Amino acid sequence: MKSTSIAAGAIFAVAANAAVPEGVVQFDVGRRQPHPRLSRRATANTDSTTINNDLSEGGYFATCKIGTPEQTLTLQLDTGSSDIWVPSSSASVCESSRNSDGCSLGSFNSDDSSTFVITGQNEFSISYVDGSHSDGSYFTDVFSIGGSTVTNMTMGLGEDTDINFGLVGIGYKTDEAIVSTEEDLSAAYNNLPLVMVQEGIIKTNAYSLWLNDLDASTGNLLFGGIDTAKYTGDLVKVDIYKDSDTGTFTSFIVALTSVEAVSSSGSDTLTSTSFPIAVVLDSGTTLSYVPQDLAEEIWKEVGAVYNAEVGLAVIPCGMASSGGHFTFGFGGPSGATINVAMDELVLDLFSGGTATFSSGQYKGETACEFGIQNSSSDPFLLGDTFLRSAYVVYDLVNNEIALAQTDFNATDSNIVAFASSGAAIPSATAAPSQAEVTQTPTFTTPAFAASSGFASTATATSSSGNSGSSGSKNAAGMNAVPMDLLRIGVISATLFIAGGLLVL
Ligand SMILES: *[C@@H]1O[C@H](CO)[C@@H](O)[C@H](O)[C@H]1NC(C)=O
Ligand SMILES: *[C@@H]1O[C@H](CO)[C@@H](O)[C@H](O)[C@H]1NC(C)=O
Ligand SMILES: *[C@@H]1O[C@H](CO)[C@@H](O)[C@H](O)[C@H]1NC(C)=O
Repeated sequence: MKSTSIAAGAIFAVAANAAVPEGVVQFDVGRRQPHPRLSRRATANTDSTTINNDLSEGGYFATCKIGTPEQTLTLQLDTGSSDIWVPSSSASVCESSRNSDGCSLGSFNSDDSSTFVITGQNEFSISYVDGSHSDGSYFTDVFSIGGSTVTNMTMGLGEDTDINFGLVGIGYKTDEAIVSTEEDLSAAYNNLPLVMVQEGIIKTNAYSLWLNDLDASTGNLLFGGIDTAKYTGDLVKVDIYKDSDTGTFTSFIVALTSVEAVSSSGSDTLTSTSFPIAVVLDSGTTLSYVPQDLAEEIWKEVGAVYNAEVGLAVIPCGMASSGGHFTFGFGGPSGATINVAMDELVLDLFSGGTATFSSGQYKGETACEFGIQNSSSDPFLLGDTFLRSAYVVYDLVNNEIALAQTDFNATDSNIVAFASSGAAIPSATAAPSQAEVTQTPTFTTPAFAASSGFASTATATSSSGNSGSSGSKNAAGMNAVPMDLLRIGVISATLFIAGGLLVL
C-alpha cells in the first residue's frame, strides 16, 4: 500500500551469536520503552466521548546495516511497499534541534560510506496513503539484515522527508516507487527478497511473518522458509489477486469471504454488500480497515463507538478482557480461518496518559482505540491488529498466501525451507472452494446474538489497554536455523500521531 504508520521510538540491542554457523542468522533483540512524546491534545468537548486527540500507533522494526564501514539503522518492516529507503543524515527531519528525537532509529551518512554509489540523482520519490513522503536519490550500497549481506542493494536516500525512520519494503517489485514515477513496469529493479534469491541466500521469493502477541515485544520474519512451530492447525493457501487497475500482482490482496462474531452468548455471521472483500495484508498498517457496513456490525457486537474528534472507533479499555472473538474467513467455505481475540483489538489510544469517556454509557471508563476501523473505499486493509493473530506465508512466485492461526509466544522452532525456486509453500493445502468465490452482495442485519456475551465477559473497570509496553520477550531464543534461511527479529514500537499528522 505504500502505506505506513508514522514516527517511532524503540531501540534495541543486537548481539551477534558467535556460535552460529556461516550463512545462518541468529540474534537477540531486546526492547526499550519508547519515549513519551509531546502530542497535540484536542480541546475539551462534551460529546458522548471526550478523549485526547492522540493515537498510539505501532510498527515492526528490524535492525539493518548499510555502507562501508557499516552504519546501523532500525527500519520499519513493510509488506505493503517494496523499496528500502533510509533518511539521510542531512535531512532536516533528522536534525535534533527540530525534533527532540531527531532520527533516533538511525540515519544514513552517505559521505561516510566508501561503497556508496548514486544511481539516480533526485529520482527517488515515495508517498504513503497517510500523506507522508520521502524524496531523494537512488543509490546502491552494501546492505545487511539478519546477518546476511548483499553487496549491491538499490535503495532510496530520503533527503526531503517528513518520516524520521526508514523502511524495508518487501512486497512485489511491481509496487516499487520507481514504477509509478517512471510510469513503466520495466523500470523496476530487484528489491531485497529478489536480490537474496539472486545471490543464493534463499531459494525462492517467499517469506513468513510471525508478528506475535500484542503484549510481546518481538516476533520474527523468516526469508525462504516456514516455521511449523509458530502456528496451530494447518496452513491454508489462498490466491493473491491481481491489482484490477494494472492487471499485475502488486500487493497482497486476498479474498476475505466471511466474518463471524463469537462470544459466550452466541455467534453471528456478519454480512456486507462488499463480500467477498478484497483486502490487503499490510504489516505497515497498524489498524485494520473494512467496509462501513461490516465495521458498524463489528462495532455493535463489541460496543465500540465512533468518535468524530479523533476520527476513530473507540472502546472501553476493559473490553480487552472480553472472551469474545472474531473469525475471519478467506478463500470461501472451508478456506483459511483466523480467530482474532478481543485482547488483540483493544489498543491504548496514546502512551503517557489516559483518555476517559466523559459522558454516555461508558462515562468514567478509560477509552481505547478499537483495532477494526471503517473505510469508505478501497483499499481495505488488514493491518497488524489482524496480522498478529495469523502466521502468514507470502509466496511471491506462485502468488499465494498461506495462513494459519498463530501460536502466541511459541518458543519452539521447526524451520522448513522452500526446496527450490517456485516450490510450493511447505505443509500448506489449498482452500478447496476458492474458485467458487463470487460476488454475493446481500445484506442481512445480524441478530447480534454474540453482543451480550462480549460485554459480560469483559472486565467492567477502567483497566489499561494493551500497549505492548509490558514484558520483554526474547523472541530470538532460537534454535539453529538451517542454511538458505534468514530469520530476522522484529520488534514492536509505540508511535504517536496527532490529527493524522506527524508529531515531530
Ligand atoms: C549494482 O546494481 C546496479 C543496479 O541494479 C547495476 O546497474 C550495477 O551494474 C550493479 N553493480 C555491480 C558492481 O554489480
Ligand atoms: C505472551 O507474552 C506476553 C509477554 O510476556 C504476555 O503478556 C502475553 O500474555 C503472552 N500471550 C499469551 C497468549 O500467552
Ligand atoms: C466512519 O464512520 C463514521 C461514523 O459512521 C463516519 O462519520 C466516518 O466518516 C467514517 N469514516 C470513513 C473513512 O468512512
